[in-house]
Amino acid sequence: MLKFSLGNDADLRLLLPHHAPVYSALVIQNTDYLSRWLPWVTADFDEAKAGEIIRQYLQRLMDDAGILYGIFYQEKFSGWISHRWERRFLRTEIGYWIGEQYQGKGLVTRATKAMTDYAFGELGLKRSEIICEVGNDASAAVPQRLGYTFEGVRRKNFFRDGLMRDVNVYVAFADEWPSNQQR
Ligand SMILES: CC(C)(COP(=O)(O)OP(=O)(O)OC[C@H]1O[C@@H](n2cnc3c(N)ncnc32)[C@H](O)[C@@H]1OP(=O)(O)O)[C@@H](O)C(=O)NCCC(=O)NCCS
Repeated sequence: MLKFSLGNDADLRLLLPHHAPVYSALVIQNTDYLSRWLPWVTADFDEAKAGEIIRQYLQRLMDDAGILYGIFYQEKFSGWISHRWERRFLRTEIGYWIGEQYQGKGLVTRATKAMTDYAFGELGLKRSEIICEVGNDASAAVPQRLGYTFEGVRRKNFFRDGLMRDVNVYVAFADEWPSNQQR
């Protein structure tokens, strides 16, 4: 699906190469805020790097391994939400960020609900995972709000800023997901 509605004020749109300028502009505007948690946000982030990430996800889509949606609030690009799935294991991982000026509107929570519904519905996957660096409470609040279960801490899971970082792992399962039980 190319577009998902998140209500009257927002929607998700498949990110395409022509979105690279708005994507890079928002990251550059929010470098300090985002680089605190996202290892790919560096001082030299630019339109070419944004385009490269979009192209990598389009390749994943071709490989049946992932998708990248822009979160648009009142027609403005405000962040993105990603899926990276492993078809043979029927599992996916969701990732997200938004510009600081778009926080507190429920955009990411709504997007994550839509993407979890999509994973367990159209994609037919069985496990959805969200990992948040220990200490990133705003990020952890998203899966918590949606009823994901805390599974545990995965130690030294990724490298950022000179250190291997521990992450909290949250999971949802297709057979326990409320929207699925109403089908
Ligand atoms: C993590 C991050 C996406 C969370 O952003 P956020 O604005 O807190 O999350 P949401 O968009 O879901 O908004 C939730 C807030 O909106 C409120 N809200 C308003 N309308 C809402 C709605 N319809 N549904 C849900 N929540 C709603 C919630 O109460 C909550 O506010 P609160 O924090 O005061 O309780 C953001 O902080 C971010 O991008 N951080 C930097 C990058 C990052 O850490 N990414 C994640 C890496 S793991």
